[in-house]
Amino acid sequence: MARPHIEFVQTQNVDWEPAEAGASRKILNADPGSSEATLLIRYPVGYSAPASSAEMPAEEYFVLEGDITIGGRQCGRHAYGFIPGGSRTPAQSSAGGATVLVFRYAEDDPDSLAGTADPVAIDTPAMPWDVSTYDPKLTHLRLARKVLRLGPNNSCRTFLLAGMPHGVPPETELPAETHDHCEEMFMISGSMWAPEGLMQPGAYFFRPPHIVHGPHVSEFGFFQIMRSPMTNAIVTNWSDEMRPLPIGAPYSPVMPEGTPQSWARPWQGEPGL
Ligand SMILES: [Fe+2]
Repeated sequence: MARPHIEFVQTQNVDWEPAEAGASRKILNADPGSSEATLLIRYPVGYSAPASSAEMPAEEYFVLEGDITIGGRQCGRHAYGFIPGGSRTPAQSSAGGATVLVFRYAEDDPDSLAGTADPVAIDTPAMPWDVSTYDPKLTHLRLARKVLRLGPNNSCRTFLLAGMPHGVPPETELPAETHDHCEEMFMISGSMWAPEGLMQPGAYFFRPPHIVHGPHVSEFGFFQIMRSPMTNAIVTNWSDEMRPLPIGAPYSPVMPEGTPQSWARPWQGEPGL
């Protein structure tokens, strides 16, 4: 695990680059020493790529928009899947075009390989939300989640997380947090304030272990896909130090060395009402 800290980029600021068979991609974060990476892939209208005998590293995928058929599975918006490492690369086609978020594993990650890791295919909109107890220090966010995948050997949990509007506590300060594992997030809709600024749709972060972060509050609610590489059970260490609520914090991202400056442009989002 040698993925750099990025917190956070509005992925609209990342340029598309050409990928296989006429697709385009944005590599958001990657381990320079392996195939492990998180990327957005955009498939054009009428995209078609045949199956290949080449073995692929494991991938999780989440359809952000459009439709795509992956190995015979028809995937609509918010379809989620996991393909174990060592599988043959499946045929992919898209009649109307699609944008897909992909979490690619290291090719030699033993917990991601076929025989150890099972395939997953979930139509996530049809899943019920889990609104059972969460960390009491996060009560103000009114959270709900859908667990999409629990990796073997406690290797990684992937889940959808939503918070209701008015996710702001009456207090003016909250503690910060750290974990002994990684956290990764892509904002699907809504927004969330962090000390690094306002995460809007398309926001992405990868946070290695032991990075102090938060607090987070949300005025208008949020919907995000999250992962916790290195564990299936998130354990949060709360700081004694209290930090002010980050509402109004200017955009001040942490970016890996060598990141194009254009990634760090403030993102204004869509014009409001
Ligand atoms: Fe956290």
